[in-house]
Amino acid sequence: MDKRARERIVAKCERFVTAWTAPGDPAETFRALADRVGPRLDVYGGGDSVQRLESRVAELLGKDAAALFPSGTMAQQIALRIVCDRSGCSTVGFHPQCHLDVHEERGYAHLHGLHARPIGNRNRLIARADLDEVGEPLGALLLELPQRDLGGQLPAWRDLRAQTSWARRNGVALHLDGARLWQCRPFYRRPLREIAALFDTVYVSLYKDLGGLGGCVLAGPEDVIAEARVWRIRHGGRLSTYEPMALSAERGLDAILPRMPALVRKAREIGVALAEVDGIDVVPDPPQVAMLHVHVRGDLERLQDVVLEIAKERRTLIAGYLAPTAVTRVQMTEISVGPATLDVSTDEIAELYAELVRRAAKPRRARAR
Ligand SMILES: Cc1ncc(COP(=O)(O)O)c(C=O)c1O
Repeated sequence: MDKRARERIVAKCERFVTAWTAPGDPAETFRALADRVGPRLDVYGGGDSVQRLESRVAELLGKDAAALFPSGTMAQQIALRIVCDRSGCSTVGFHPQCHLDVHEERGYAHLHGLHARPIGNRNRLIARADLDEVGEPLGALLLELPQRDLGGQLPAWRDLRAQTSWARRNGVALHLDGARLWQCRPFYRRPLREIAALFDTVYVSLYKDLGGLGGCVLAGPEDVIAEARVWRIRHGGRLSTYEPMALSAERGLDAILPRMPALVRKAREIGVALAEVDGIDVVPDPPQVAMLHVHVRGDLERLQDVVLEIAKERRTLIAGYLAPTAVTRVQMTEISVGPATLDVSTDEIAELYAELVRRAAKPRRARAR
């Protein structure tokens, strides 16, 4: 099926199992922002809305200072550059599936001359024992909570503490890729500031989970954040206004963050229900945050076609994409649970995924009869 035909089917969908595929109502978003806007728009990040947001996130994360950035890609390179400059060591340790390495064209190396030291196995989380294998000085250790490319896995609190203590003992700066840190509180049963306290610098996204119009916040010590603001200019990140990012992020903090425990419960429910379906595996099993990966048995193209058949018949999009895995005839998709997901009952999600596997297993001709 060509791209246009696919888009036409998706455009007619009314329900979306994975939150980021839900188009939302742009006009409603802008109306809601209009209600929040003050007498003056932010100019170059100095406005009230931006300062309010920065203080609010700093407070939530228990950090002295915070700054708004146009993207996590920019903010994290800058955080690592600063702490590595200070330690005089340009090597950064991180998981082999670290976002900076896999999805950001290795900007940290090209723009900042930093070197990567992958730690542990790409198919599981970093464990305390992996750190003993590093065997070379590190300028920084970056941990990602939750680890997105592993379906949103989190280390046990005790293991996380052991890893961060190792870094402290060895004088290694700790940076948290907390793109989806908002989802972690129910698993750890601790306030975000207690999780963030294990790290020197923390990045959180404003558009993942919170549904903002882009951007992120980098939080940490006053002097690091002051220097990060200089690097933000060097990176071309001093926007003429951050108003839409700041206002929409505040809206997310007010309206979505308090719902996070319910979203995590829903992800867990979906995981439990899908794990019962023949031909489906859930990663992790059970889900730990408001996302999960679903591994589905079947041929890639056939599964993609059936997702669209179901979308057409039921006006429900059950998967935003399907991608191959290392296992032949097993494909994966990511379910990110957001407010839109709550509109589809867990039983129906399991029923639709079972239907997906069943139809995909039938040869095309047999189905046509
Ligand atoms: C774990 C993780 N870190 C960092 C980023 C980068 O964020 P941004 O899209 O704001 O550059 C992403 C984006 O998907 C992410 O998933």
